[in-house]
Amino acid sequence: MRILGIESSCDETAAAVVASGDAVLSSVVASQIAMHARYGGVVPELASREHLRAIVPVVREALLRSTTRLEDLSAIAVTVGPGLVGALLVGLTYAKSLSFATGVPLIGVNHIEGHIHAVILESRRDGAPVQFPALALVASGGHTHLFEVRDGGGYRLLGKTRDDAAGEAFDKVGKLLGFGYPGGPVIDRLAPHGNPHAVHFTFAKMKGNALDFSFSGHKTAVLRWVEARHMEDEIAARKTLLRHHPNPSVEQWLTVTPPATLDLLASFQHAVIHELLTRAASAAQSIGARGLIVSGGVACNSALRAAARAGNLPCPVHFPSAGLSTDNAAMIAAAAFPKLERGEFSSLDIGAQANLPLA
Ligand code: KG4
Ligand code: ZN
Repeated sequence: MRILGIESSCDETAAAVVASGDAVLSSVVASQIAMHARYGGVVPELASREHLRAIVPVVREALLRSTTRLEDLSAIAVTVGPGLVGALLVGLTYAKSLSFATGVPLIGVNHIEGHIHAVILESRRDGAPVQFPALALVASGGHTHLFEVRDGGGYRLLGKTRDDAAGEAFDKVGKLLGFGYPGGPVIDRLAPHGNPHAVHFTFAKMKGNALDFSFSGHKTAVLRWVEARHMEDEIAARKTLLRHHPNPSVEQWLTVTPPATLDLLASFQHAVIHELLTRAASAAQSIGARGLIVSGGVACNSALRAAARAGNLPCPVHFPSAGLSTDNAAMIAAAAFPKLERGEFSSLDIGAQANLPLA
């Protein structure tokens, strides 16, 4: 049973063929990051245009690399939300057209469910399957959510961010300090050069649901720190570096980033990780989780991985490999497998939903 997955919710056009639920036969990702980086973030209109350009060759490449013909497919899985509507529509419309033309059934997938399934897929393939009930922490540029995941795919929302998503906080801090877009990967690489305890960040006490997250305080603390110093020249030097080198090495960044700023980055990252893991640990405890799934772009963060592995978490932790952490289509195909088994197909009039909830 082969499923073609298609993903276009944000700034990657992706297609993949997955067999038997966990064998990734191909996974092709055309990233637009370099283009959006020039504007400091994702520009929705440009994203839609690039998806339009990429969708046909990306899908063709995924089929070719996996030596799959359209008639070999059991289903076409596609992200229907959440995401940018114009971007989602490109993948969705293409998937619908393929389904209509070939008679292969369509399965609409929630992007967040995809992120969770990236981990379930790899854990099965690697012979250490996630045990249920599991707790899923999905942290990306658009979402920071905690879900209880039951065997067979039932989800219950336990907590979510009340303001920025974790990845968004990384991106805003990166942009503010002149590190370009996206901020997460740069901060990840520079943080080991700073002291994570040098700058104090307050851990927000949540009124109401204690499993909700908040990152706007961290972002504001960085802004105040910057305002209290004269950093214009330093930030301008980094912007100049970026103009000459679209993806500077750590050594290059270090020539324009003094120790105090490295301390700030390390402390900010430490505070975000503390926020994520503290609430994830309480949530895992509260549902008696037998596994913790960490997924979404922020799951790439090396300090988060190290802290989760070393920390006092009440259950085994599962991370996706780097290629399946950020947006991809293998995770969308993987999430469609249980739906295919249950015969849960989508009709051709299914729409894209910018704010589609998972639970
Ligand atoms: O899952 P993803 O590719 O797209 C969304 O669905 O949003 O996540 C992208 C986000 C960006 O905010 C990016 O800064 C963050 O993930 N990210 C990281 C790292 N790599 C990507 N954040 C922290 N550390 C990283 N290594
Ligand atoms: Zn994502």
